[in-house]
Amino acid sequence: MKMALSINVAQAIVLLVAATLLGVSQAKTVVVGGDEKWRSGFNYTEWAFQNNPLYINDKLVFKYEPPSASSSAVDVYWMPDLYSYMTCDFSRAKLLADATKGSDEGFTVALDQWRPYYFACGQSDGLDCKHGMKFFAVPWPRWFK
Ligand SMILES: *[C@@H]1O[C@H](CO)[C@@H](O)[C@H](O)[C@H]1NC(C)=O
Repeated sequence: MKMALSINVAQAIVLLVAATLLGVSQAKTVVVGGDEKWRSGFNYTEWAFQNNPLYINDKLVFKYEPPSASSSAVDVYWMPDLYSYMTCDFSRAKLLADATKGSDEGFTVALDQWRPYYFACGQSDGLDCKHGMKFFAVPWPRWFK
């Protein structure tokens, strides 16, 4: 009886560790900027800081209006490295979502790798970016949770 109990405890521990390693806990979906969504004139540094930590397989949703008389165009670029991100240099940036992709459900990015993701708006010759419309995210493996 005692033997059986200790085996059950051992099994439970193995299952718990395996579940943690496999990332069984719930991935979350975060709207970038919260109620502010993705817009020019908002500084995303603080927002990104407050929304740490993120974990691998969490998702970011970019929501923004298509360009119109009342809202200027915004988009989402993926910056290749920290330096491009810091200097808002879009020469090697990759367009993730153009100005029309943020409406309704928004544009979703799955953070599926353990790496830094640098995001920035590429409109108005990089001025949106230079004014703070950028942030980076490093999703952690769940075993650090
Ligand atoms: C955005 O906010 C961060 C953190 O408060 C600050 O360091 C940075 O200078 C701000 N950027 C701009 C363009 O104001």
